[in-house]
Amino acid sequence: MKAEVSRVAYTHESVLPEAAVAYWGWAEDGVYVDATVGGGGHSLRLLQRFPSARLYAIDQDPAALAAARERLAAFSDRICWVEGNFRELDRWLGSEKVHGVLFDLGVSSAQLDRPERGFSYQWDAPLDMRMNPNSPVTAFRLVNMRSKEEIAEALRTWGEERWAGRIAEFVVKARAREPIRTTGQLVEVIKAAIPARARREGGHPARRTFQALRIWVNDELGALREGLSGALAHLLPGGRIVAIAFHSLEDRIVKQTFLAWQQEGQGSVLTRRPVLPGPEEVAQNPRARSAKLRAFQKSG
Ligand SMILES: C[S@@+](CC[C@H](N)C(=O)[O-])C[C@H]1O[C@@H](n2cnc3c(N)ncnc32)[C@H](O)[C@@H]1O
Repeated sequence: MKAEVSRVAYTHESVLPEAAVAYWGWAEDGVYVDATVGGGGHSLRLLQRFPSARLYAIDQDPAALAAARERLAAFSDRICWVEGNFRELDRWLGSEKVHGVLFDLGVSSAQLDRPERGFSYQWDAPLDMRMNPNSPVTAFRLVNMRSKEEIAEALRTWGEERWAGRIAEFVVKARAREPIRTTGQLVEVIKAAIPARARREGGHPARRTFQALRIWVNDELGALREGLSGALAHLLPGGRIVAIAFHSLEDRIVKQTFLAWQQEGQGSVLTRRPVLPGPEEVAQNPRARSAKLRAFQKSG
């Protein structure tokens, strides 16, 4: 059974909109892929700028697609909608070759701000964290059913959490009494596991664990690796890939992949240094503060 699409307003402020569209869009009548259409902000700019461009608009979250469909209704005759994961670009694009692919990674503000999605440690909500609400893997399942060692390893690798071992130990003890069902219960377990002195440093004590769980639930890094190589395979000569990353693990994958392709002679990195948002954008949209944009161009 499919999850019901929430009717709450979908709000997301696009990050680095000017730079993203400037790198992504280069051919007036090109075919483009927005691999993470979200609220449709980047796509809207592209379609307005290029009145004869066509677009594949992909998202694994049906609520995002519903919002983007509404926002981009005026351009619907130029858009092919795909509800799915960008790791399967091959499946969605078939034999189509494209001029540019945009990845604006991670979750949208709309997903983060909806308590029932379970992404945030700010509210008490069911432990979910799925971007695709029809996927069988939830944070509840990982927290309650994976071994102590697997949980510790996940928190260490994807959260860079120095208290990973202790948090995993406390999780396993707590769930032996009763399942950890909500974000609030998990936050309490994390707080109990991290010594008081350490808890006072470096932001909210649950931040790293929540990041790790989100990456794990959605296999974000695996999807990114496959999505990037699928994108390269479908690029026309001169075509471009633009990726906006929000944490160092995904940015490292983007940076290393682009560099490896350059060394293999597949094309060139267009951004010697990542493009970062300026202070004005960060002041207006604090979630932009960790964004890093990189672009690659396939050989012509
Ligand atoms: C940061 S938002 C994109 C916002 C969009 N660029 C805008 O301007 O409104 C990221 C979106 O990508 C989607 N997403 C993340 N990983 C995905 C994946 N592997 N496959 C498909 N969609 C994904 C999320 O569901 C979310 O809606």
